Formats: sequence, C-alpha cells, structure tokens
Amino acid sequence: MSFIKENADVTPIVDTVFTIVRQAAAAKAEFGEDAVVDATIGSLYDESGKLVAMNSVFDNFNSIDNRIKAKYAGAFLGNETYRKSVADWVIGNSGCELCSSVVATPGGTGAVNLTIDLCLNEGQTLVIPNIAWGSYAIMANNAGINVKRYEMFDGDLFNMNSFMNVCQEVMNEQKKLVVVINDPCHNPTGYSMTKEEWGKVIEFVNELSEIGSVIILNDIAYLDYSYDLGSVRSYMECFNKVTNNVLISIAFSCSKLMTSYGLRCGAAILLGKEEASVKVVEGSFEKAARSLWSNVNNSAMENFYEVVTNRHDEFMKEKAEYIELLRRRSSIVVEEANACGLPIYPYKEGFFVTVRCDNALRDKFHEALLDEKIFTVKVNNGIRIAVCSLPVEKCKGLAARMNQILEGCK
Ligand SMILES: Cc1ncc(COP(=O)(O)O)c(C=O)c1O
Repeated sequence: MSFIKENADVTPIVDTVFTIVRQAAAAKAEFGEDAVVDATIGSLYDESGKLVAMNSVFDNFNSIDNRIKAKYAGAFLGNETYRKSVADWVIGNSGCELCSSVVATPGGTGAVNLTIDLCLNEGQTLVIPNIAWGSYAIMANNAGINVKRYEMFDGDLFNMNSFMNVCQEVMNEQKKLVVVINDPCHNPTGYSMTKEEWGKVIEFVNELSEIGSVIILNDIAYLDYSYDLGSVRSYMECFNKVTNNVLISIAFSCSKLMTSYGLRCGAAILLGKEEASVKVVEGSFEKAARSLWSNVNNSAMENFYEVVTNRHDEFMKEKAEYIELLRRRSSIVVEEANACGLPIYPYKEGFFVTVRCDNALRDKFHEALLDEKIFTVKVNNGIRIAVCSLPVEKCKGLAARMNQILEGCK
C-alpha cells in the first residue's frame, strides 16, 4: 500500500554533501582541527573557520522593523522595489536589452524549479551539463522529466560539439529545448565561459529555434564572486541576438551573493524578444508561486533592496575582501596542482576547484582521502574541493598530498 501518488519519486535523496560534512566535523572533534582538512562545506567561511555573515547585510537586516519582517510580501511576483532592484543588479549594466520580467522566488532553487517544471511536460527531457549541481536532476525527476547531459569540457574548453549534439538530438525528438547553463563560476568546476563561447551558444540555439522553442536556464548563483566583476555580465549582450522563439530564464540567488542562504530569497529573470511572450511566462510563474510558496520572505526582499541601494559601497567592499580570499585560496590549490600534475578541471573563478577523476577510480580515491583525514565531496567524474570554506593554510600542500594519494589508487 502506498499513501502517495503512483509516479512520485520515492527513492531517498543520496546526500553526498551533508553526510561527509558530518564525518569531517566528527573527525575534527576526535583528532583536532589541525589534523583534518575539511574541504566539504559549500558556503563561504572565513579564515577562523566561521561561516561568513556579512556585516553590511546583517546589520541592515537587524535594523528592519519587526512589522516588515512579520508582513506578507506585497505581491506573488515579489515586491516592486525588489523586482526593480534585482533587474538593475543582474542586467542593469550588462548591455542586455531584451524585454524582461522578474519573479521573486525562494532562492535560486525556486527559479530553477519553476523553469524546469513549467517549461517542460512530463515525459520530456531537460538538458544539463554532465558535471552539475545535483538538484537539477532531482527537480526534473520529481516532475517526471528525463535528463540528458552534455559533456562540459573538451580538454580545457567548453565542449561546444557535445552541447550542440545533445541539444539537437533533444530538439529533434520533442520540438522543444530547455537547457541548463550554470555560468559564470560553474559549480563545481569553477569554469566560466568566454563571451565567444556564449556567442556560439546563442547562434546555435537561434538555428534550433526554427524547429521549436528554446529556453536557456542560465543559473548565475555564483556570478557575483567572479574575479572580473567589471566585465562578468558582458556575455549577456549576446542575448540581444536571440530570435522570438528563444527565452532566457536567469536563476538569481541572494544566498551566496549576500551570504544569506537561510533567508531563502532569489528570482527568475525572464528575458525575451517579445514583451507578450515574456508576460505569458511571468503569469504562469506567478500562478505556480501562488500555489507553491505563496509569496517570498518580505524582509529578505526588503533587505536586498536596502543593501544594494543604501549600503552599496560598504557591501561591495566587504564582498571584495572575500573574493580576494577566494582568489588566494584557489590560486594556491590551482598553482600547486599544476606544479605537481594533479589533474583538475579548468578553474577560472568561484567557490570550488574540482579534481578530474573518472568515476571508476573516484570512489577508491575518495576513500583513500578519508583515510588521510582529507574530506571532500564526490561529483560526477570528480572530487570537489570547497575552497570557499578552506583556510589558506589548509590549501597549502593539499594538491601534492592529493596527487600522491591519487597515484596510490591507480
Ligand atoms: C549551482 C547552484 N545553483 C543554484 C543554487 C541555489 O541556491 P539557493 O536556492 O540557496 O539560492 C545553488 C546552491 O547551492 C547552486 O550551487
């Protein structure tokens, strides 16, 4: 006997992150901090091992009136001040001139989910990268949607051929394409596509859009930790060339941007050539929001608006310090990996560096790392090192140790 509907996904979540996070914490308690390398946690931690909660963000949050915290949001689509400031933040200086609409969501998760769930029918197929945030596949599965994966890399470059082949195949089959591009600062490899690569993607989906509609789900969860903030949004200029049959849904998240993971605030930014088609999508997102979470955390939206409006410089300065910290940590790992020959994916920026390792060897490697009290997270064909939470001193010498352990596993 079953209490839930027939096609519900009842397989338990395989939680590859939190189990290992707990193991690392237990090892630290047993053997002491110094004996353990804990590269598991995917949130920003400071050099003293504490979760970062930016002052510019939380001093502001604490000054928000209790009644604003208590209140429902002003609309299912999100508060107007929030929607406007998100649009300014994400596309304001990008050069993107498409028609746009912002739908507030609980985190980037909400935006990704709405796009997958509302743009594909049950039984259709979502295209995602072969190395990817695990939730895309969970969301698809939950909605009865299949998944096909394109290879992310050809050597150290974006694998355009695989991207095109998989997208073409899916378009031919179902006359519709929804494809996830998690860029810039891809989780978990730290790759960022060049503007030229984006140009080719747009050129190609435009061709496909003669067969059926195309939705690019551009997940930008880590964008604001780019090492080149001045031009990180310039790829969005390529969006201007899309045909009427292409829609872009940007999944924006306040979680990493503001170190406010628990406040659950984000947005879907819908971009298209024609206002009318953007409005149709906006309307269906609004209805789904109403049915799923009703409205988004009022004070989190208010806080975003106030921080980027009234505390902009203070916030940017504080965030810049953490970007610098990420750069220091990651460059130690990357430079040492290159020096000792530890194979890594082409890291440019972001929270994670990932070791290249076929799944056939990966589990043995991961176990061997655990034996040496090096805690990492398994990903498809790789081992993720969360430099976002690993202090500088722990980054030093890690690549050589890992390489030696990897060699011992072969
Ligand atoms: C690639 C990617 N996208 C989206 C998210 C969504 O985060 P949130 O729902 O907290 O905004 C995450 C969180 O880890 C992520 O890694």
